[in-house]
Amino acid sequence: VCSSRFLGNGFGPFDGRIWLNCAHQGPLPQEAVAEAERALRWKVAPHRMPDRHFEEVPDRLKRELGGLIGTAPEEIVLGNSTSYGIHLLANGMPWKPGDRVLLVDGDFPATILPWLGLAKQGVQVDFVHPSGFVPTADEVEERLNSRTRVFCAGWVNSFNGGAIDLESIGDVCRKRGVQFIVNGSQAIGARALDVRRTPIDAVVSCGFKWLCGPYGTGFLWMSPQLRESLEINRVYWLAMQRGRSLNRMRDYELRDDLGSYQYDVFCPASFLNVLPWTASVVRLADLGIDRIEAHDQRLVSRLIEGIDRRIYRILSPVSGAERSTLVFVSHRERTRNEELHRQLGEAGIDISLREGNLRVSPHLYNATDEIDTLLDILNAVGSDD
Ligand SMILES: Cc1ncc(COP(=O)(O)O)c(C=O)c1O
Repeated sequence: VCSSRFLGNGFGPFDGRIWLNCAHQGPLPQEAVAEAERALRWKVAPHRMPDRHFEEVPDRLKRELGGLIGTAPEEIVLGNSTSYGIHLLANGMPWKPGDRVLLVDGDFPATILPWLGLAKQGVQVDFVHPSGFVPTADEVEERLNSRTRVFCAGWVNSFNGGAIDLESIGDVCRKRGVQFIVNGSQAIGARALDVRRTPIDAVVSCGFKWLCGPYGTGFLWMSPQLRESLEINRVYWLAMQRGRSLNRMRDYELRDDLGSYQYDVFCPASFLNVLPWTASVVRLADLGIDRIEAHDQRLVSRLIEGIDRRIYRILSPVSGAERSTLVFVSHRERTRNEELHRQLGEAGIDISLREGNLRVSPHLYNATDEIDTLLDILNAVGSDD
């Protein structure tokens, strides 16, 4: 019987509550907490923090993240958020007035706003308006034109849980010479990705949702061609010292052999975040994303099958490849969602209220009995007329 929490040993304690809100924040596993404590001890007595740690600690995180998405550590750019990576691309790509970027109407603002900020450079933004939860490859293709340089979209939509098909959309983008940039923040850690086999040009993610890292973490992978096309002034002094001792710095040399290291967030060795995040990523990798995905999807199935459809509508894909780990439900009287959200909170169940709907997002540390507890309350509360 697979009702257990077997994947989530070593998470929590959750103060006796049920955390079904990974789409907002993924919790730290205990070994990550131990790593955060180690980072604190280094800073209490800084002799514990030798110079080599400033390279080795971020390099280890790059190795783990690279392993997770099928790429070399040197191709991972460390950031502090999703927004970091998208800004780097939006601000670094060489634009000409009249260039266009295609986005998805209904995507999360972090995927949209950095491109709108390019208007001053004459870059125009177009939107695809999906007829379903998320756009199909045909819908994307219809909205491309000869000036479209980029299509940027969330892999999993934060407001309806729909997942786009990276393969077919990527193929369309390749065929039309359009860079396909994916925001994987609501997917990576819960869905497997191999960038060697997927027709995308860049993927960004935060680390603090499905990757169970601390807040203030994120990364970017981009193809070497995209990276080499960037024109952005980034000359971080510590990156320039890479592979060299800190004993000699005043030759003010500009290096062009740094590859993606040139684009890491400043202070990429922020130990308090990097040490625990690395431990979280190791945990996920050791379990295997495929196994985590299967576990998460069992929980999603239980929720979808157990909810009383006479009382609730499900506002997310309920089957197939579009389905994700974000499930939106709404009372048939939509105005009751806010009160339901509050009642669940009082009963010790944490989910999100987003755009007026209830969002449930389970991950590896959740168990089927927790979904059952949620269902008991929802199905009872929702029908008490
Ligand atoms: C799709 C998506 N992207 C990004 C974010 C967060 O952006 P950032 O990492 O820049 O804070 C969220 C949620 O907070 C999200 O749902």
